[in-house]
Amino acid sequence: MKWETPEFAARDDMTNGWAVVTGASSGIGLEFARELARHGHPVLAVARRRERLETLSRQAAAQAGRIEPLTADLSTGQGLTSVVRRIEELNKVELLINNTGIANAGDFLEASLDREFTTIRVNIDPVISLTHNVLRGMVQRRSGAVINIASVVAFQPFPHFAVYAATHHCLHHLILSSQLVPVGHACRCRESYCCQRAAA
Ligand SMILES: NC(=O)c1ccc[n+]([C@@H]2O[C@H](COP(=O)([O-])OP(=O)(O)OC[C@H]3O[C@@H](n4cnc5c(N)ncnc54)[C@H](OP(=O)(O)O)[C@@H]3O)[C@@H](O)[C@H]2O)c1
Repeated sequence: MKWETPEFAARDDMTNGWAVVTGASSGIGLEFARELARHGHPVLAVARRRERLETLSRQAAAQAGRIEPLTADLSTGQGLTSVVRRIEELNKVELLINNTGIANAGDFLEASLDREFTTIRVNIDPVISLTHNVLRGMVQRRSGAVINIASVVAFQPFPHFAVYAATHHCLHHLILSSQLVPVGHACRCRESYCCQRAAA
C-alpha cells in the first residue's frame, strides 16, 4: 500500500498484510474500506448488514481491489469470536481500524438499560478484543497500526449521551495506557480530533 499521509509515507513495510475494518457497511468505516482496497490492501470488512458489505466487495473487485465481507454482530460474544477466528486465519493483519460505534441518545434516567449496555459492548468490547488479538503480531514484526475511531466527547461530559461519551472516554484512556506496555521498542500514540492512532 502507498501511504499518503506523511506519517505513514515512510512505512513501506506495511504493504503485504490485511486491513481489518469494523463497521464497514456505512459512514466512516465504509470509506476507510473503500480507500484501503483502492490502494491495494486486502480488506476484511465487518458489520451486520451483509448486502451492504457484498455491494462494497463487488465495487472493489470491479477496480481490482479485494474486500472480504464478514457478517458479525459485535454486540455478541459469538459475533466477536467469529471475527477473531477469521483474523487468526488471515495470519498477518497490518492495519486494524476499530470503527464500529453506536450512540444511545436521551436522558440517562429514561434510557433503556438494555440499550445502554449494548452501547458499551459494541463500542468497547471489539476494540479490546481485536486490538489484543492483532497487536502481539505487530509488535513482534515491529510493523503495523491500530486506528481507533473515537470522538471529541472522549474529552468532556456530554449530556444526553452519557454512556456514549463514557465509552469514548474509555477508548481514549485505553489507547494512552496501552502505549505504556513495555514492548522493547517504541509504540507511538497519536491523537487527532475524533481519531486515535497507535502504531507499533
Ligand atoms: N459521524 C460522526 O460525526 C462521528 C463523530 C464522532 C465519532 N464518530 C464515531 O465514528 C465511528 C463511525 O461513525 P459513523 O457516523 O460512520 O457511523 P455509522 O454510519 O452509523 O456506522 C456505524 C457502523 O457500525 C456498524 N455497527 C453498528 N452496530 C454494530 C454491531 N452490533 N455489530 C457490528 N457492527 C455494528 C454498522 O454496521 P451494521 O449496522 O451493518 O452492523 C456501521 O457499519 C463510530 O464509532 C462513531 O462513534 C462519528
